[in-house]
Amino acid sequence: MLTVAVLISGAGSNLRALLEAANDPAFPARVVVVGADRDASGLAHAEEFGIPSFVVPWRGAAERDAWGAELQEQLQVWQPDLVVLSGLMKLLPAAVVEAWSPRIINTHPAYLPEFPGAHGVRDALAAGATRTGASVIVVDNGVDSGPVLAQERVPVLPGDDEHTLHERIKPVERRLLIDVVRRIAVGELDLTAASAH
Ligand code: GAR
Repeated sequence: MLTVAVLISGAGSNLRALLEAANDPAFPARVVVVGADRDASGLAHAEEFGIPSFVVPWRGAAERDAWGAELQEQLQVWQPDLVVLSGLMKLLPAAVVEAWSPRIINTHPAYLPEFPGAHGVRDALAAGATRTGASVIVVDNGVDSGPVLAQERVPVLPGDDEHTLHERIKPVERRLLIDVVRRIAVGELDLTAASAH
């Protein structure tokens, strides 16, 4: 059974989808802890599913390394096989990425390497893209620059705003994330090999 720690900042809809998938005894992974950089509303999903959670409050970029060290301490308590960044809107310090690499993955609401960063949906709209997408990647020390594990195109429709487009992307993200976690758990997807390319 693959054990997973999930880190969030927001509503945690991807987290919830993973918790629901993992509720099926046949699913080969379990979420063992949920962490956040703020009092994220998504922590309520962890509570509902009886999963422990922790918050290490973000205190500004000048404190990034200290924040990361605290986050790392919390993660180490649980010794997860995999860390999933699921809407964590802060860049992890290199020391934390290196501690987990390549067993640390991220979901992103764009077809990477298109539109990396904190505003993937907004940036696709601003660029006038007619299609964008969703990606799951291995985290490296860049911004959304790690190896792509899964991705799929999503159309941008006339009249879309950031909300409508994001809501079209999120179900795709969820499906990709759940499938990537499953494939890692059953050994179909080798993160070390995926990171070597
Ligand atoms: C997701 O779309 C995730 O890909 C995105 O934040 C959303 C979180 O939604 N992450 C990024 O943009 C990271 N660069 P959720 O909290 O409802 O799962």
